[in-house]
Amino acid sequence: MADKAIDDLMLENRKFPPSDAFKRRALITDTGLYDDGNADYEGFWARQAADLLTWSKDWHTICEWNLPFSKWFVGGELNVAYNCLDRHVLAGRGDKVAFYWEGEPGDSRVITYAELLAEVSKFANALKSLGVRKGDRVNIYLPMIPEAAVAMLACARIGAAHSVVFGGFSSQSLSDRINDAEAKVLITADGGYRRGEVFALKPQADEALQSTPSIESVVVVRRGNNPVDMQAGRDHWYHDLMASASPDCPAEPMDSEQLLFLLYTSGTTGKPKGIMHTTGGYLTQVAFTHKYVFDLHPETDIYWCTADVGWVTGHSYIVYGPLANGATSVIYEGVPNYPANDRLWSIVEKYKVSIFYTAPTAIRTFMKWGGEEPAKHDLSSLRLLGSVGEPINPEAWMWYHEHIGRGNCPIVDTWWQTETGGIMISPLPGATTLKPGSATFALPGIGAEVVDDEGKHVSRGGGYLTLTHPWPSMLRGIWKDPDRYRDAYWSRFEGRYFAGDGCKLDDDGYLWLLGRVDDVMNVSGHRISTTEVESALVSHPSVAEAAVVGANDPTTGQAIIAYVILRSGLEVGEGDLRNHVAKEIGAIAKPKTIYFTPDLPKTRSGKIMRRLLRDVAEGRNLGDTTTLADANVVNELQKRASEAPSED
Ligand code: WTA
Repeated sequence: MADKAIDDLMLENRKFPPSDAFKRRALITDTGLYDDGNADYEGFWARQAADLLTWSKDWHTICEWNLPFSKWFVGGELNVAYNCLDRHVLAGRGDKVAFYWEGEPGDSRVITYAELLAEVSKFANALKSLGVRKGDRVNIYLPMIPEAAVAMLACARIGAAHSVVFGGFSSQSLSDRINDAEAKVLITADGGYRRGEVFALKPQADEALQSTPSIESVVVVRRGNNPVDMQAGRDHWYHDLMASASPDCPAEPMDSEQLLFLLYTSGTTGKPKGIMHTTGGYLTQVAFTHKYVFDLHPETDIYWCTADVGWVTGHSYIVYGPLANGATSVIYEGVPNYPANDRLWSIVEKYKVSIFYTAPTAIRTFMKWGGEEPAKHDLSSLRLLGSVGEPINPEAWMWYHEHIGRGNCPIVDTWWQTETGGIMISPLPGATTLKPGSATFALPGIGAEVVDDEGKHVSRGGGYLTLTHPWPSMLRGIWKDPDRYRDAYWSRFEGRYFAGDGCKLDDDGYLWLLGRVDDVMNVSGHRISTTEVESALVSHPSVAEAAVVGANDPTTGQAIIAYVILRSGLEVGEGDLRNHVAKEIGAIAKPKTIYFTPDLPKTRSGKIMRRLLRDVAEGRNLGDTTTLADANVVNELQKRASEAPSED
């Protein structure tokens, strides 16, 4: 037992091969691409780069690999905005809708490729007039409005790198990120809509701007109509700049390795890391994955990714991938429960969405709200569903499949990270037999392997997920900190990228992601993944969502503590749930204590904060909780924990 990295306890036997109806239209229905990618991954990616993108100058070397630093399509030149906009307009598709934007209060905008190109070109000229030059950094702190995509593409057009900071982050987080990137311009808004109210952004930005010496100009988009202070000389209204900007701004060719953006991601400790992504390789992989993983038919599909542009999913699968492929997308500004719990399904019905991409945390919330919400709407336009961000519990997968997909949409469970830039492990929906809860296999051209503590290849059972060779959209490093880059990703296993995730392989070679390895518990010498116990809990019909942590225990090392949210109107006793887990996984995985709670502490991107739950379970004082979506949840949990005796 001791030599196993992570125990493999849960078994899932359900299988879903692609239906004939889906296969008939699918882009990929066999293993040809995999054979191609495995035979020669560099050649494979070069063919994708040539096929999917328009280059103004050819590369001379496909990949330069100086472990751990890679360069792709070296010597090649292209412009990302040209690839996302101009070439579609030049090909006569200017009237095609790029974005259906739905505001939370119910207002909406339809933006064609030609209109988006004009707006991006104008804003690129506006940025130039503020002194932004190739190589500069521009910070973006906006709500989910079309101007967020416009700002990103305008930067790409002139070779400035953007650094988007999620609009829900505090002024402190914003100023830290601005200062690390030494950004010259900040693009923000007066405010945005959330849960039916305007939240102010500019006042938060103003607070950050007190300690950001690199910022020379601020651009403010009007959205919330809330009162804001404008500092003369520094602050400009977006609409004023646009009124006088020329719509003529040639897209400059960029070196394939030109910095496209920084995106900050928090490590478990220390200051956030500025993850660097560049131009040619990044766009190749996001275009490839968006096309084949989502089986995109750009003429007929309406695609909707519910992420925020502040996260990498928004960068790669709202902006760059879909636009590079000429897709039509929906963007929604607000929360899923405004004005009611069926808002997302009313949007699917309104725009006839055919491809829907969301996160397990959202799916479990929909489960909690109940199947009657989606049942109020005609969801028959949907033909493919996606999931990203966390392991999806098999029961959440089944619920998604039945209640949203009505039993006939494949689900692509896509594993990737801010650092990987694009999807790495995922089914190809016309070719792969799905198993609920498994992200299935590495995509063509990607090398993934599970290894044990010593870095030895594991062919069956649990271990650590590693990536064995470079891929085009891999991070190029951590901004200004190459040592931390080496240390964080390349030091644990020699010659391999360590993703930080546990993973197991089943008898059929399917990959099952087990969550971050710091989420692995050690109970009486058994290393049990929190994900598996959570999935067992969620497979009980009364449970909507569960979070599991290991708390110090004098006898077993760690004890399993579970926090459980019930589905509305349903009940179950603690003893019954413990027995249910014993039945699903084994007695070893029975939670010692179960707390029932109406809510769980989550990061603003929706990941459960297990560290905090561990602190609560172990009775520790909590430190900074400001990165939480809702800090009250923790106070409530602490109260319950101090009142409830634990059961042995
Ligand atoms: C987790 C989000 C299981 C994983 C794109 C990873 C997943 C981290 C999945 C990256 C998935 C993402 N199955 N786990 N399909 N997708 N993760 O940087 O732990 O916000 O390391 O990127 O999310 O999160 P990030």
